[in-house]
Amino acid sequence: MSVNETKKITEYRLAKDLFTRGKNIIISPEAQEMKKFIQHGNTTVFDHCLAVAKFSLLYAYFFEKTLKIEFDKDSLVRGALLHDYFLYDWHIKGKAEGLHGFSHPRTALKNAERDFELNEIERDIIAKHMFPLTLRLPSFRETVLVTLADKWCAIAEMLRIDISSYLIHRVNFNIALANGEFELGETAGNLVSDAS
Ligand SMILES: [Fe+2]
Ligand SMILES: [Fe+2]
Repeated sequence: MSVNETKKITEYRLAKDLFTRGKNIIISPEAQEMKKFIQHGNTTVFDHCLAVAKFSLLYAYFFEKTLKIEFDKDSLVRGALLHDYFLYDWHIKGKAEGLHGFSHPRTALKNAERDFELNEIERDIIAKHMFPLTLRLPSFRETVLVTLADKWCAIAEMLRIDISSYLIHRVNFNIALANGEFELGETAGNLVSDAS
């Protein structure tokens, strides 16, 4: 099996795992509002959050395997998906409540608490993902993973390096499936071509 085929299977499993854990958020119309806003480069906030969730999950698998550290992966994915749920165009002056870099975790948390039920880990991830800029120390290891994944994704997006297009394609396909936007024949065809 070629490196590319192995990579595709890994990405497929990752996308499936991420979608399963984050489904309620991913398919919600509220979260999809993030598609209306650009985060870095030409990446929407929604796609940025998907990429951050993907890398957070990858790091969790890596540390679980190498250091035998356990992570709450459901909370990790949900927190990562909502970490930038601030819902405004930060490029427009006056939209943020203060300086965007410092204030948006607070706004994202306020919005997320209004629209979703959050646990302590998910709240910590959203509130503290800008560490060390915001000086609020992460209280959970899941938050540390999201702060790392967030920086890596931001750099890649600003440099327009493609690190998540396959995942985004898969997740959007799953959203369309969940919304019943495919005929059965078409779905089967897509699944067959995807697995090949
Ligand atoms: Fe952020
Ligand atoms: Fe972010």
